[in-house]
Amino acid sequence: MSDAETAPPATLVIFGALGDLTKRLLVPALANLQREGLLADDTTLLGVSYHDSDDAQLVDVLDEFVENDAGWDALKPKVHYLKGDFTDPAAYQAIADKVKGNAVFYLATAPGFFGTIVDRLGEAGLLDQKDGFRRVVIEKPFGTDLASAQALNKQILARGGEDQFYRIDHFLGKETVQNIMVARFGNALLEAVWNNRYVDHVQITAAETVTVGTRGKFYDATGALRDMVPNHLFQLLAMIGMEPPNSSDAEAIRTEKAKLIAAVRPIAPEDAARGRYQAGTIGDETVPAYREESDVAPDSRTETYVALKLAVETWRWTGVPFYLRTGKGLTARDTEIVVQFREVPVALFPRDDALPPNRLVLQIQPQEGISLAFVAKKPGPLMETAPVSMDFRYADAFEMGHRTGYETLLYDVLIGDQTLFQRADQIEGGWRAVQPVLDAWAAEGEPEGYAAGSAGPASADALLERDARAWHALS
Ligand code: BG6
Repeated sequence: MSDAETAPPATLVIFGALGDLTKRLLVPALANLQREGLLADDTTLLGVSYHDSDDAQLVDVLDEFVENDAGWDALKPKVHYLKGDFTDPAAYQAIADKVKGNAVFYLATAPGFFGTIVDRLGEAGLLDQKDGFRRVVIEKPFGTDLASAQALNKQILARGGEDQFYRIDHFLGKETVQNIMVARFGNALLEAVWNNRYVDHVQITAAETVTVGTRGKFYDATGALRDMVPNHLFQLLAMIGMEPPNSSDAEAIRTEKAKLIAAVRPIAPEDAARGRYQAGTIGDETVPAYREESDVAPDSRTETYVALKLAVETWRWTGVPFYLRTGKGLTARDTEIVVQFREVPVALFPRDDALPPNRLVLQIQPQEGISLAFVAKKPGPLMETAPVSMDFRYADAFEMGHRTGYETLLYDVLIGDQTLFQRADQIEGGWRAVQPVLDAWAAEGEPEGYAAGSAGPASADALLERDARAWHALS
């Protein structure tokens, strides 16, 4: 982003100004943009929340998260606070008095407020673009199932055009996620074998060591499937599986991603496994069982782990299973995509076991990079083979810096680039695919226990074993 131009000036109105997201991610990202000279001089920030506070107090609260930062020092005088109830039309009149010209409304609130805030903004004329752009950034989760996502899309799109709504998925702000497109469409080598003739299967993993922590209230009502799959994991799936767009235009890319998501066959409950962590040890930390965490119901049926097998019905992918898994309280933090290629048609070289197939691993986090596993001859008179790997590490080639991932996303909202945001059809496509599993799990059954600090429940392993495959080890 170093060659990027300064974004147009705007008032950034953040609903949920005192919340975690604002403190930990949004304001530090804005400070980074400011330091890099990417925010226009007359950019202002208006924090809205229902607490009693004022400009100075808001700056004080934020200070703790971005202190000693040159960008933040420059931004501080532009920070203002407005006390307001998100449901009260009077709050929006107060906002309208302060906002002229370009404005971005960032909904860093509980999801229950998304629709109401957009309605109130619309009623107050704040989405009217006659004096400048008016854009709304909506956090996740966007709906809790297909019907609620459709209803929310309908509600917001009655107040403005699709080009005014930026449905955020912070995975798309990660450099290595954006690099998937460059790896695929900037390198002829990969694209040539990127299909069901050469690829055996794909694994998409987002494993976390963190447990539910202080988020029990949100998480117990949500679960791993809703929290991670139709949004984050499906965005990775779309990046890996989409057809080449016919230009780098945001709509061309979003259309290809939406087409891929629409081609995912609704997932049969027998192609899904769910787990819930039990007490265990992660590193040197002892972790209580999920049901004993604070704000979690003792008889909760919420899953903290999910594994799925997906069929993508396109010419490119029919016959290639995509296995997805994500969970909390696991043995390692590991977000990666493994593309496993088919075995060679004839095994020319004797081995006790089969030659290991080529495997391309796109490591999203931590230790971002790409590695390719292949087979080489062992030195010596005998024709013996051994698995080896070629490794590219981002950190060896580039200065990664300390970015939150929100810099690019916020900058893109200001310049009006929707490439990295989810369109209505992508969101609904994700929910449509997982809906049969949501329904089946709501009706009956329980997640299978797995020890905190392990690799997940046995039923997730069985999902692959039944296809004579195995998960790539978490590391
Ligand atoms: C969030 C989920 O969207 O993504 C969290 O709500 C999860 O439960 C987080 O921990 C993972 O994001 P990251 O960037 O830490 O991989």
